[in-house]
Amino acid sequence: MDDRQMIQEIEKLKKEKNIKIFAHNYQNFEVQKIADYTGDSFYLSKLAGEVECDEIVFCGVRFMAETAKIMCSDKKVVLPVEDAECPMAHMVKPEEVLAFKKEHPDFKVVSYVNTTTELKAVSDVCVTSSVAEKVINNMDAQNILFIPDMNLADYISKNVSGKNIVSWNGYCPVHDKVRKEEIFAMRKEHSGYEVLVHPECRREVLQEADFVGSTSAIINYARNSNAPGFIIGTETGVLHALRAENPEKEYELLSASLICYNMKKTTLRDVYDAVSGNGGLVIELDEELAEKARKSLDEMIRLSH
Ligand code: 13P
Ligand code: SF4
Repeated sequence: MDDRQMIQEIEKLKKEKNIKIFAHNYQNFEVQKIADYTGDSFYLSKLAGEVECDEIVFCGVRFMAETAKIMCSDKKVVLPVEDAECPMAHMVKPEEVLAFKKEHPDFKVVSYVNTTTELKAVSDVCVTSSVAEKVINNMDAQNILFIPDMNLADYISKNVSGKNIVSWNGYCPVHDKVRKEEIFAMRKEHSGYEVLVHPECRREVLQEADFVGSTSAIINYARNSNAPGFIIGTETGVLHALRAENPEKEYELLSASLICYNMKKTTLRDVYDAVSGNGGLVIELDEELAEKARKSLDEMIRLSH
């Protein structure tokens, strides 16, 4: 079966089985094109609880599919590639969080959405990069343990006041590799371009940027800016939406290291197999655990208003 036939089959099966395809902004272009919804972690997790369908095929990494399942336990949720994992989601263990809580009962635990369900279940509130500052500002707690991303924690600490934020030492292996020297070199080559970066990058990189935001915030910023071009400091998959929306503008990837191999594992064939029921991982979660994790996600939605 060639790609064209596969796309036709996916469309047919989606209608027959009432399936919606979700794709994160980092997915391969052909996967984003076939998706019903593309976006950042916040948009997709919230949407999972609202969308009307019987099944979601979630093209992303495992924590994203698990988050969707937590938000809609009545629906079938399938991750097309079983081992599409975000390494950062495993950089802290639930026992370590519980031990910290025991020692520091005056702290609230805020988990980045890039965590396992087990970690969300031991957290008080969950955040995505797009709503982290707002949620933490709206929390009535003063002492906060932020897990697992130290770069995002550092960025939030600089932007919220009156909070004592202690961070875990996790990081995104993709964004953490970027260096400020790469910005200097790119600015020299592309004068007048704006530098847009994800808050998972190091402080030295964020300090040199014109804009810091989630994947969708970066896409929105570029849509509304009059700059002739942009230097993009997040995973290469966002170039798809950027170029599709504003083909007259120029986009350069800030660093050759900005490729998330886990996000790139999902192919059109994997989507076809998942939609036809012959592949992928059907997400099953322990009910009690999912219920606890759900509370931290509901808190995120409540506090992000
Ligand atoms: P967004 O929340 O911006 O979509 O980012 C998710 C992610 O994994 C970034 O590396
Ligand atoms: Fe995880 Fe980084 Fe990949 Fe995002 S880009 S999914 S944080 S490894």
